[in-house]
Amino acid sequence: MDESDVAGDLVSVLYTEDQIAKRLAELAEAIERDYEGRELLLVGVLKGAVMVMADLARQFNRHVEMDWMAISSYGAGTKSSGVVRILKDLDTDINGRHVLVVEDIIDTGLTLSWLVSNLNSRGPASVEICTLLRKPEAQRMSVDVKYVGYDIPNEFVVGYGLDFDERYRNLRSIGTLAPHVYS
Ligand code: IMP
Repeated sequence: MDESDVAGDLVSVLYTEDQIAKRLAELAEAIERDYEGRELLLVGVLKGAVMVMADLARQFNRHVEMDWMAISSYGAGTKSSGVVRILKDLDTDINGRHVLVVEDIIDTGLTLSWLVSNLNSRGPASVEICTLLRKPEAQRMSVDVKYVGYDIPNEFVVGYGLDFDERYRNLRSIGTLAPHVYS
């Protein structure tokens, strides 16, 4: 692999840095409106949501708290099974808190369904979800996703926190990988 041209590994760019920033600003505006007068705790899911969290949080003109969870989902290949293990739990007690889960992408939604029911068992005032990307299959899931950046086709995408084999998370844009990367 040519280490010098990471962005060149993309076969097409789905969303540029500018487009992502504008969309996150719109989402932040909606969230700010919806949570007016209420304290808000943003919960990011490591590692993919790091970029979304960093940029979304900085769009707010209000106080927000941030906390993180790391979970691993067991599944065959690239598909998750919904069987989840907590690798890092929240530092915050969310009892009585308004929680907004910040995600990079929802594919089957299995991981998120598990996470939402786990969080709900801790007695929060509310739990909602914000995701930058959502794939078609996720629309069939039972959990309601309140804030969606973009609905995308069923393709494997990388960049802006999303990885292929732990690489490409640091790309500023989101795109699909060129076939030579897999070979
Ligand atoms: P779900 O349980 O099927 O919704 O799995 C969601 C997780 O799978 C995400 O948090 C990502 O870690 C990973 N994932 C799903 N689709 C993609 C993709 O297109 N690119 C990179 N990671 C993905």
